[in-house]
Amino acid sequence: MNVLIIGSGGREHAIAWALSKSPSVDNLFISPGNFGTGRVGTNVDLDVGDFASVRDFARANRIDLVVVGPENPLAGGIADFLRGSGISVFGPGALGARLESSKSYAKEFMVRHGIPHPRFWVFDDAGEAASFISTTEGPWVIKADGLALGKGVTVCFDREEALDVARSLMSGRALGDAGKKIVVEEFLQGQELTAMALSDGKTLYPLPFARDHKRAFDGDEGPMTGGMGAYSPVTDLDQKVHEVIVRDILEKTLRGLKEEGIDYRGILYAGLMLTRDGPKVLEYNVRFGDPEAQCILPRLEGDLALCLRGCAEGSLDRALGDAGLRVKPETCVTVIMASGGYPGSYEKGVPISGIELVEKEFPENEVVLFFAGAREENGQVVTAGGRVLAVTALAGSLPLAREKAYNAVKMINFRGAHYRKDIGRMPATLGR
Ligand SMILES: Nc1ncnc2c1ncn2[C@@H]1O[C@H](COP(=O)(O)OP(=O)(O)O)[C@@H](O)[C@H]1O
Ligand SMILES: [Mg+2]
Repeated sequence: MNVLIIGSGGREHAIAWALSKSPSVDNLFISPGNFGTGRVGTNVDLDVGDFASVRDFARANRIDLVVVGPENPLAGGIADFLRGSGISVFGPGALGARLESSKSYAKEFMVRHGIPHPRFWVFDDAGEAASFISTTEGPWVIKADGLALGKGVTVCFDREEALDVARSLMSGRALGDAGKKIVVEEFLQGQELTAMALSDGKTLYPLPFARDHKRAFDGDEGPMTGGMGAYSPVTDLDQKVHEVIVRDILEKTLRGLKEEGIDYRGILYAGLMLTRDGPKVLEYNVRFGDPEAQCILPRLEGDLALCLRGCAEGSLDRALGDAGLRVKPETCVTVIMASGGYPGSYEKGVPISGIELVEKEFPENEVVLFFAGAREENGQVVTAGGRVLAVTALAGSLPLAREKAYNAVKMINFRGAHYRKDIGRMPATLGR
């Protein structure tokens, strides 16, 4: 089959890499793609916001499956548009994508379907939000309702800060329309966990759990980022919690979607807090996590493309069998190497060295590099974004995978390179 992946991040490189290994794939295109995707497929320069141009490309190149990486085009209805033209798409339509594109919608969905969640309050009036914060005890978790590329949530321990954050979102429109409505949540304590599953609207296939590290610095200090690393599997939860997550969260969510007439085909992602009262859903995403994809996809064996197509075409059950999808027992550790200054401002165009060295030293079933903010300039790979690349290592245990990942990280150099030294060492806790 011919596959087109939409997106340009490390996640999309990981998806492209996994699909390039699927025996059922003949031609693989990525749009717009990046340096890494260009090594495993063909990058195509389409304006992916212009759905008609995506459709025209898909028709001209006899694309059998479009895989949508990021949330923005999904929220904008790209899956509905392409399906309307008879093209198979891995990724939910705009109605399903509301689970991510509106945090208040997602929370109300959890209420309707009895899915465990923190207590929450929704405001679209700045005065009411301020008087709520003034008359309640913190901490307050303040969330912009709409899509904010990971910049929409602030955990506030201080009342003045909470008032400020709410004001700047709602009156100051700090994130544009995404923050004109906010959700204020009860602050939950515990370890976080990412639970993702493949869905074809009827059948659910849970993927291995992962844990990501969101803060910029070691010990979960510093500002929130898009994610500085991840590891999988997560071994600090017992079988019972595992079952609760699959049954009472993932499966209940799919059932709820079905009841509401939403045919959900793609990744269902639950961002969880493991509390003393059990796991609770902080948020849904409607696509692979980044960097979770870089950490989970290398653990899968079998023909992933058949599975994604099965999701797109409502036949996941059969596809799983045909694909022989299996999870490797190995532990995977993914370390993000970022530009100095990220998530603030940073320099671009810095030469990256050591890529060939790593690829010569380690076989691909032990270490893989997934590129994000990197591009080629006159034969030299240079930085082009905040998160530059992900170093993923597989080994028989978490300490061994960590060691291997960091051995590879040390071989890669670029001016100002920043990475966390504790990925997979300590469970991510909430920073203050
Ligand atoms: N109710 C909560 N209690 C404690 N921490 C939270 C809560 N909600 C979110 N957080 C923290 O904020 C982070 C971002 O929130 P999330 O809802 O995942 O939004 P997004 O990923 O869109 O920024 C979470 O990963 C978690 O660390
Ligand atoms: Mg999140």
